[in-house]
Amino acid sequence: MTRRKSSPSRRPVSLAWRVTWLVGLAMTVVFVVFNGISLRSLDLHFAEMDEEELRVIASSVTKALAEMAHEQDPQALERAVRGHHGVYYFVADGAGRTLYAPANGPDLGRFVARQAPIKWAAEEPMTVWQEGGHHYRGAVLQVGAGQRLGEDYTIAVAMDIGVHLDFIRDFRRIQGWTVLAVMALAFLLAWIAVRWGHIPIRRANDKIRAITSSRLHLRLDPTEVPIELEETIASFNAMLGRIEDGYGQLANVSADIAHELRTPVTNLTTQTEVAVGQARSADEYREILYSNLEELGRLNRMINDMLFLAQTENSPDNLRVEELDLAEEIQGLFEYFDAWVEERGVTLQRVGAHVRIHADRELLRRALSNLLTNAIRYTPAGQAVTVAVEQGTDAIRICVENPGPRIEARDLSRLFSRFYRADPSRQRKGDGAGLGLAIVKTIVDAHGGRVSAQSDDTSTRFYMSFTIGSPVQN
Ligand SMILES: Nc1ncnc2c1ncn2[C@@H]1O[C@H](COP(=O)(O)OP(=O)(O)OP(=O)(O)O)[C@@H](O)[C@H]1O
Ligand SMILES: [Mg+2]
Repeated sequence: MTRRKSSPSRRPVSLAWRVTWLVGLAMTVVFVVFNGISLRSLDLHFAEMDEEELRVIASSVTKALAEMAHEQDPQALERAVRGHHGVYYFVADGAGRTLYAPANGPDLGRFVARQAPIKWAAEEPMTVWQEGGHHYRGAVLQVGAGQRLGEDYTIAVAMDIGVHLDFIRDFRRIQGWTVLAVMALAFLLAWIAVRWGHIPIRRANDKIRAITSSRLHLRLDPTEVPIELEETIASFNAMLGRIEDGYGQLANVSADIAHELRTPVTNLTTQTEVAVGQARSADEYREILYSNLEELGRLNRMINDMLFLAQTENSPDNLRVEELDLAEEIQGLFEYFDAWVEERGVTLQRVGAHVRIHADRELLRRALSNLLTNAIRYTPAGQAVTVAVEQGTDAIRICVENPGPRIEARDLSRLFSRFYRADPSRQRKGDGAGLGLAIVKTIVDAHGGRVSAQSDDTSTRFYMSFTIGSPVQN
């Protein structure tokens, strides 16, 4: 048999077990402590009762001794205690001679010999001892000549406490069983409570299971679960919302792609049909093929852009980040655009200090180049495109600004979506597919930054802001 590979982090103990154990243990501890306290007070109560009775007996004996002294009644001691069962007393005179000793019960003479007398008034605790298979409680007391007795006496009193001890033993045995029963009951109840508490989770789970890709609009009701789970359900709903949005966008992208591909493919089909319709001269064929090549080139670029977007979006961790001098990169791009800029009669200018940035060189160039292409395209001849670099305390900001037509506010926020073109006259007529700014956004997002755009009557500005302290800029 192959051993299962141990997982690197162990699964936490089941919640049901945790709660059951804790509640069961807590109830058991409370019960045991409570029982311990009641046993102790029972013990004390019995001791108090016994001692009180023994003191009464000791007083009766003292009284009998007084009677004996005054009335010369030698029987007085024998009659001293009546109506008490299981109590014993012993009397010796000052010289140590035994005046009275019980016929049965404990050997109180020996008890007197070994036990120091207690103080009558201080209510000192009495002694408990075992003798001949019985348990006794008792004390030795001294009564003096001053108490109208004529001489000193030593009195010992004792009682059999077997009945009390039996009672306590029975009580303890019953308690043992009760503790076991309470423990079992506590565990069972805690287990039932936890299972019962999990019902809303199972119900929510059933609902979650019913959410399929075609039913992403479904949400869980946070008020149907216990308050502790409300936040989790709210987070789950929010996540579902994000997935639904992403899914919707993906569906839109597919529709957009199909839409964008249809025009060049229709053009290609029509032109090819016309070409094969009748015999043509070599020049005519070349011209048709040339036109097809242009269309194919556009398709090719679009496919490459789509692929690039998919790759960068899906694996933003694959950036090859290095420290770059932004001014150098911008200057390099200016040189690349030199010929086109000259042709369009536009100039390029750079403002700002030499700022260093952590970024993937190729991606940063691509983003800057997309912004510059747009800016150069929309700048009227004779005017300048400005690239400004600004090092703030919390971010590095790059702004590409060009004079030109104003972009309406409602278009500004959508410019960064795929295939979106603000200028309806350029729809599928120009050479752009409307992916340039979507690529800029994806690149900046992958670097943990943000893009934005502003436009007014004099100029249009696109910003890329790279947060200092983001994982990439560290
Ligand atoms: N500097 C700018 N001035 C005015 N409008 C702009 C500017 N930059 C972008 N736009 C508008 O934003 C739209 C989207 O730009 P984007 O770069 O995404 O696509 P594109 O340039 O049309 O095509 P592609 O970049 O894929 O070749 C453009 O079609 C244009 O309408
Ligand atoms: Mg563009």
